[in-house]
This record gives sequence, structure tokens and C-alpha cells, in this order.
Amino acid sequence: MQTILLIHGPNLNLLGKRDAAQYGTATLADIEKLTAAGAKKAGFDVKSFQSNDEGALIDWLQKESKGAAGIIINPGALTHYSYALHDALVDAGLPAVEVHLSDVNAREEWRKESVTAPACIGVVSGKREKGYAEAVALLAKHLAQ
Ligand code: DQA
Repeated sequence: MQTILLIHGPNLNLLGKRDAAQYGTATLADIEKLTAAGAKKAGFDVKSFQSNDEGALIDWLQKESKGAAGIIINPGALTHYSYALHDALVDAGLPAVEVHLSDVNAREEWRKESVTAPACIGVVSGKREKGYAEAVALLAKHLAQ
């Protein structure tokens, strides 16, 4: 089975306790379960990692990207300023889909810019946890082409 890397950036370990109006009520464990179930139906395994540390996310991505087929990433606030994460995604050489639970285009101005999105084949924003199923579908479609 091919593997999808599911990467969660800073503060996403607190999902379920964060602002429900923005992020919904699903916990990170709920999201990982949902994503793994959807991926399994599409024929993929999922390997997940969360960190509040930019360097740890990059180390993990460098290590795990070798054997993987694609990436689903919610970089959290790193979305808006981490050129290092952008470069790590490019260097991984894998199709990646960026997911945001909240609608980043309907919030503060600074959230409208994503520096990581140019390294991705698509962005899903504002669909809460359902966005992860959409990301699996986008990746599966891309990999089937
Ligand atoms: C987020 C949006 C980011 O702007 C924010 O910093 C997050 C979560 C989202 O999933 O909506 O931590 O990526």
C-alpha cells in the first residue's frame, strides 16, 4: 500500500479545545481517524505527525518522504511565514495538499497569505475536518493520473 504523510503544525494538538467557531470540535485524534479511514478506502496507508516545532516537522518530512506517495499538511500558523517548510515540501518531491480547518481567506489579513501553498498541488480551506477527506480525494486523483 502507498503511504500518505499527514502533517499537523503548531497548536493543532489542542484541537477540540481551540476556538470551535473557527476550527470546529473535532480533536486531532478524530481527524487522524477520519483521514485514515478515507485513505484506506482509496487504497492508502496514513502516517501522522504533529509538532509545535518547525524544525521537528522538517526533520520528520525529510526522513519520511523517501518511501511515501503524497502529503497532506495543515501547517497551522507556519503557513503564513515558514519559507523553510515551503522548501522542505519542494525538496520532498511529492504531491502535497494544504488543509485549513477554518476559512483563512475570511479572517485576519495576515492569514490570507500562504507561503507554503505554492509548494502544494491544492489547498482546501474552511471545510473543518471534512477538508481532510477532500485532500485525500485530491491526492488520489493526482496520483492516479
Ligand atoms: C489553521 C489556520 C491558521 O491560520 C492557524 O494559525 C491555525 C490553524 C486552520 O486549520 O484553519 O493554527 O491552519
